[in-house]
Amino acid sequence: MEKVLVTGGAGYLGSVLVGRLLNRKYRVTVLDNLFYNQVSLLQYAGHPHFEFILGDMMNGPLMQGLLKTHDIIIPLAAIVGMKACDSNPQLARALNLDAIKQILDFRSANQRIIFPCTNSGYGTKSAQLYCDENTSLEPVSLYGQIKVEAERILLNSNNVISLRLATVFGPSPRMRIELLVNDFVYRAIKDGFLVIFEKDFKRNYIHIEDVAECFCFSLEHFAEMKDEAYNVGLSDANLSKEELALKIKTHIPSLYIHYAEVGSDPDRRNYIISNEKIKQRGFIARHSLDEGIQQLIKAYKMLPARSNFNNY
Ligand SMILES: NC(=O)c1ccc[n+]([C@@H]2O[C@H](COP(=O)([O-])OP(=O)(O)OC[C@H]3O[C@@H](n4cnc5c(N)ncnc54)[C@H](O)[C@@H]3O)[C@@H](O)[C@H]2O)c1
Repeated sequence: MEKVLVTGGAGYLGSVLVGRLLNRKYRVTVLDNLFYNQVSLLQYAGHPHFEFILGDMMNGPLMQGLLKTHDIIIPLAAIVGMKACDSNPQLARALNLDAIKQILDFRSANQRIIFPCTNSGYGTKSAQLYCDENTSLEPVSLYGQIKVEAERILLNSNNVISLRLATVFGPSPRMRIELLVNDFVYRAIKDGFLVIFEKDFKRNYIHIEDVAECFCFSLEHFAEMKDEAYNVGLSDANLSKEELALKIKTHIPSLYIHYAEVGSDPDRRNYIISNEKIKQRGFIARHSLDEGIQQLIKAYKMLPARSNFNNY
């Protein structure tokens, strides 16, 4: 059985990915500092192939020891998103970049890495232009810049796959409501209205279950896919904010949408993503936005009534 080390595995993506890896018969070790006091992995406590280590990915000796005993590394631990990185740039660099370099220093050449990058690296391209993996990267935010830099360093080594993920949506045991689709659905339910700046700005989206599946797919097709980057999104979900809001309204008809003429979104992303490359390798995202919106509506009924779900 191959052993996978998932750093940050108790997070939004990790807590969905871990179950899938265990079902695919990998042994899984999660290293996470439980930054959000989350209890997202409790269901795996009894699983014979699951290990949890409470710790910090920036701890060199700890990582060096763990890397000796794992075949595959999925480094999810990070300060995630523009706001979080802007409010602590030093920590963002130390965790999102320096700790990744450290993995490269410690691992042996035959150990495989699958890295979660972001397609926000494409920046403010015209919403008319399809961005594929050859499109130049011009990240706007510090978060995007650090992610792109980490990807560049990783792809300069070998046995690495970088997945440039679209904005993820859907429920997870460690819920993140600030992600665009999750946020719009949450506001639609809680406030009954949405105020939208820059309504024509386009982005690409992907369901969290498809992301988890894509990591497994990449492991299973590692030899054919290695040493390259891949956009990972739902091809029919390159939507403007207005189109997304109108889609949500089909599920919540009472939703009132206000388009603000003034104000700007600090996250200037505006692009259409081509997911053809990974599709050619055989991976197709299967969960629709409609499915995700319906699941989110149900999921939000089950979260405790607190003002900040990000603590879960
Ligand atoms: N969710 C998305 O839309 C998206 C899109 C593109 C890329 N990504 C990338 O995927 C990865 C996971 O994102 P996520 O959405 O699950 O975020 P998340 O914040 O839910 O997960 C991060 C996890 O890392 C843990 N962590 C934080 N600091 C740590 C440290 N020093 N040591 C060990 N663990 C630590 C946290 O406790 C958390 O469990 C990140 O690298 C992110 O950049 C996410």
